[in-house]
Amino acid sequence: PDRAGLRTSLLAWFDAAGRDLPWRAGVEGRRDPYRVWISEVLLQQTQVARGLTYYDRFLQAFPTVQALALASEADVLKAWEGCGYYARARNLHRAARQVASDGRFPDTYAGWRALPGVGPYTAAAVTSLAFGEARAVNDGNVRRVLARLYAQAAPSETWVQAQADALLDSQRPGAWNEALMDLGATICTPRSPRCSDCPVSKYCCAFAEGRPAAYPAPKAR
Ligand code: ADE
Repeated sequence: PDRAGLRTSLLAWFDAAGRDLPWRAGVEGRRDPYRVWISEVLLQQTQVARGLTYYDRFLQAFPTVQALALASEADVLKAWEGCGYYARARNLHRAARQVASDGRFPDTYAGWRALPGVGPYTAAAVTSLAFGEARAVNDGNVRRVLARLYAQAAPSETWVQAQADALLDSQRPGAWNEALMDLGATICTPRSPRCSDCPVSKYCCAFAEGRPAAYPAPKAR
């Protein structure tokens, strides 16, 4: 596959048409790790539109990691209300205390993984977006986009991660990750993908076959 061409096309689309979201403020690869972290944990629970409201509310309550670390657990759970999975809020709180006592955020993938509740997705998202580390995220949107690009009906987790790693733009890993997620959320949607608006349809095997929505096949159960 022409990976270089695909990267150029998708990044150009993202630069022109990527969503304007509050946690995207700041220089690419140098964003505020606290804001990126909170937004990424929230967005694992909820779609961007609802996530925006929760994000504003949470940041008003706890504008910095120090403020979050100093809060009581009851106050943190209160600010998390409506977001589901209270374990996530408890882990955020514990991690904030650790960061505050260390005096700094980790700045590597391994360092983030060592914080309570930080899994591969969150660590890859935060280190690529806030530190420019070349780490590929793998979420539902990325899985669907890659399954279609390569007409893979039953992509395994291992396969998705391997393709995501191979495609990652190492110069702009954060922008690349968000470009794939935005494409999946706005154009390469689960049903009725809008291939006529897609910046990378010429690289897409599922489009060439004329049946983009067939990939990935629904999981057998
Ligand atoms: N979904 C989760 N995190 C996202 C991000 N940073 N950009 C776009 N979609 C996302």
